Amino acid sequence: MAKLKVGILISGRGSNMAALIQAAQAADYPAEIACVVSNREDAGGLEAARKAGVPTTVISHRGYPDRETFDRDVSASLEKHGVGLVALAGFMRIQSAWFPEHWAGRQINIHPSLLPAFPGLHVQRQALDAGVRLSGCTVHFVTPTLDSGPIIAQAAVPVLPGDTVETLSVRIQRQEHRLYPLVVRWFAEGRISIADGQVTVRDIPPGAALLFSPEP
Ligand code: GAR
Repeated sequence: MAKLKVGILISGRGSNMAALIQAAQAADYPAEIACVVSNREDAGGLEAARKAGVPTTVISHRGYPDRETFDRDVSASLEKHGVGLVALAGFMRIQSAWFPEHWAGRQINIHPSLLPAFPGLHVQRQALDAGVRLSGCTVHFVTPTLDSGPIIAQAAVPVLPGDTVETLSVRIQRQEHRLYPLVVRWFAEGRISIADGQVTVRDIPPGAALLFSPEP
């Protein structure tokens, strides 16, 4: 069966992108990474994508008169590569309403908190300041509201005494790199459906949509 073509949008380091590229290198993985698009030409992830032989495109948001015109060009680039699923991986541009509506049910995001807690920026700082004992990451469908949209899966990690933004970020990212490839696999296998804003993942072991960090 033809593999699902995934387009990844990045703005920075691209470690989640790299995790997806690595997962897709396995012969039995049901998705392939068709392209990586960055809004920044200095995004570190571009080099890693090129090295892995994944086509990359830079579409700088600078010089566009408005968000939607930029979004339409990004979308056209993804469509040129036959993309069936858009995966945001540290893509730090707010989208116009047009993009998530055009890609409704076909665009996912990963965010470094247990949403709906701590959307937006400085996420680990927010978690530390709130004094939560658990944090983690969330993969969700993208809707026009930032870091919102139906939740597909989450991974929880402890917040430990003495944690800093850096130590908590590292712990969360380790789980991101497990969770994102898993969710893309489920999507490619046709297991994920949404009804009334609630996501169902069919035929997975009970609790598999909530991973707990194996670390202390
Ligand atoms: C990731 O931690 C991701 O969850 C976050 O950006 C980081 C990108 O890292 N995304 C958001 O905050 C989205 N609101 P990466 O470039 O190494 O994948």
